[in-house]
Amino acid sequence: MAITDIEKNKTPGDKTEKVGSGGNTPIFEVDDLHLHYLTRFGDKIPAVAGVSFSMKQGEVLGIAGESGCGKSTLVNGCMGLFIPPLNPTSGDVRVAGESIMSRTHADVRKNVLAKKVAMIPQGAFNSLNPTRKIKDIAADMIASHEGNVNRKELYERLRDRFNLIGMDQSILNSYPIEITAGMRQRSVIAISTLLNPKMVIADEPTSALDVTTQKSVIKMIFDLLDKGIFSSMIFITHELPLLRHVAGRIAIMYAGQLVEVGTTDQIVFDPRHPYTKALMGSMLSAEPGQKQRKPVAIEGAPPNLAKPIFGCRFAERCPEARKDCKGKEQEIRIVADRQVRCAYAS
Ligand SMILES: Nc1ncnc2c1ncn2[C@@H]1O[C@H](COP(=O)(O)OP(=O)(O)OP(=O)(O)O)[C@@H](O)[C@H]1O
Ligand SMILES: [Mg+2]
Repeated sequence: MAITDIEKNKTPGDKTEKVGSGGNTPIFEVDDLHLHYLTRFGDKIPAVAGVSFSMKQGEVLGIAGESGCGKSTLVNGCMGLFIPPLNPTSGDVRVAGESIMSRTHADVRKNVLAKKVAMIPQGAFNSLNPTRKIKDIAADMIASHEGNVNRKELYERLRDRFNLIGMDQSILNSYPIEITAGMRQRSVIAISTLLNPKMVIADEPTSALDVTTQKSVIKMIFDLLDKGIFSSMIFITHELPLLRHVAGRIAIMYAGQLVEVGTTDQIVFDPRHPYTKALMGSMLSAEPGQKQRKPVAIEGAPPNLAKPIFGCRFAERCPEARKDCKGKEQEIRIVADRQVRCAYAS
């Protein structure tokens, strides 16, 4: 998607007062989270290895990284959704100061998900029940949180919400197969946010959609944010340049760890971790009025997480690696006012 097009459609704030500047209260905290997949042979694959971050009210945090770096695993862990073979190893996740790690799956599903934090899972629009109309899919979701609901009242609520966000009400009476992928994704977002959660976690909400549809989905997400339906968001993508226009802060993930966390301008225009630099360099990122530069692929592949990794996880592919990087576990430290997991970044 052309950045200029997103800019045109961008609804929140202006350039100086970008969404994501945040308030003071942390509404979401992830504390040294470790998660693993348990294989049927009993091996543990540590897909998330020590992730920590916190979010303030009103903030939009982007998380970017190559495919397989653990973004979706992190999202499921953030929601306490431990569907086998995913398991928590250690660490904590707090929603408005309250830990969700000690709560049961059923409790989190009923009382946190959709009510406090809405999740838009990767590919959700392709997994809508084909035998239910959109309005009934919504009704089932509400009923799972609120018990028996008056269908007539509920349909009214749905019509009001669709009206508010400029969606055609006829969609409510359609089966998923009768509407376009873009309409399905917009319906998923409308339904997920129906209970007015404070926060949304969107896992690649525009992947697998064509460019025009991507724009309308992003516009819809930011319309909801602008209208105060929700106030904070984690936006996951593997397209770092896209975050430039939607996030106030960006976290870069590699092989199950955050390697750099900073403001959007820091990450996009002045990256300090060699992986962030490589990731930026590998993507199309022409700014308005600037000449398009040629993207340079990152050589090699991320490490196999099923095998033990010693030292820096990026060292194998890092153009700036030194002799001792492969033997030294990298700690997060502050470099140029942002967090960087590299002993030699400056
Ligand atoms: N069910 C599973 N069993 C075992 N390993 C898994 C399972 N699901 C994911 N993994 C592994 O966990 C790691 C992280 O996967 P994850 O899907 O979280 O990555 P991602 O960053 O979301 O990738 P993408 O951008 O392709 O969506 C990968 O190495 C993957 O192979
Ligand atoms: Mg994913």
